[in-house]
Amino acid sequence: MKTTPELMADSYAYAEAPFASLVRFDDTVAVVTGGAAGIGRGIASRLAELGAAVVLLDVDPQVTGTAAELAERHGAEVEGRLVDVRRSADLDAVARAAAARTPRKLVWVNAAGIYPSHLLGDLGDAEWDAVVGLDLTGSFYGSRAAALAAREAGREAVVINISSVAGFRTGRPPGLTHYASAKHGVQGMTKALAAELGPDGIRVNCIAPGAVVTDTLESKFGSMDLEAGTDYFSTRAQEMPIRRPSLPDDVARAACFLASDAAANITGVILPVDAGHLTT
Ligand SMILES: NC(=O)c1ccc[n+]([C@@H]2O[C@H](COP(=O)([O-])OP(=O)(O)OC[C@H]3O[C@@H](n4cnc5c(N)ncnc54)[C@H](O)[C@@H]3O)[C@@H](O)[C@H]2O)c1
Repeated sequence: MKTTPELMADSYAYAEAPFASLVRFDDTVAVVTGGAAGIGRGIASRLAELGAAVVLLDVDPQVTGTAAELAERHGAEVEGRLVDVRRSADLDAVARAAAARTPRKLVWVNAAGIYPSHLLGDLGDAEWDAVVGLDLTGSFYGSRAAALAAREAGREAVVINISSVAGFRTGRPPGLTHYASAKHGVQGMTKALAAELGPDGIRVNCIAPGAVVTDTLESKFGSMDLEAGTDYFSTRAQEMPIRRPSLPDDVARAACFLASDAAANITGVILPVDAGHLTT
């Protein structure tokens, strides 16, 4: 890929460019797994707003409806595809097509994931495999597909993995051994791939969200009740330096920064978006 003098020339150009131009994605195809809902959908929405052509991958048929809604809202090219991230050959095909199509950069966001709770007595092989197979192995399949396709097509790429504060410590409440293991793995994978792929013009970063208000988390713990303040989100918020849970858009804004040329010198980082929860 680019030599050090070429990279320095890019850096001097970025240093002179208006900041807003560095966070545009007009020359980018972005693939977002788990894009039908929640955090993936939030990230896809911001990328589309900033000019990317976006491909949403999900096992939920709602993915086509989400794509149509985002296309309409942003006047952008957004396509929804029924793809299971546990099927590596399908991800490889999507990545090859996206790398061939993008004018310059491929952004790949691994946001598909599940977070069921099982205390150890209920954590059988199937429960372990379901979480590790999707949250860790699915993210690996996506990262590998994007990196190899971009390298083969001679395109730049940025991979964004979505971990969790459970990638730094155990989940709260207990019952997330499989999830915390998978998310610790995602963070290790991010750093290892960043080191290997940097010379190829491929950056790999990770975001570790705290409690994010999504339909799935609300169905697990109940909705936020701002008046009573006794629900899961309100209780957790009192442990956070910034006393509110996150929205998918909090994660999306961080993802857009990491995927953009504003972050051209950043790879291998794990960025918490958690209202400061990990400091406590
Ligand atoms: N919500 C939170 O508080 C929170 C906190 C930390 C980390 N996370 C992580 O963020 C990611 C997204 O979480 P969310 O809360 O937005 O969840 P969500 O359930 O709202 O969205 C996840 C999406 O992934 C899709 N999906 C599930 N299995 C899939 C598969 N095999 N192939 C393709 N798509 C699949 C689902 O259909 C869904 O649309 C997960 O990795 C989760 O671990 C969430």
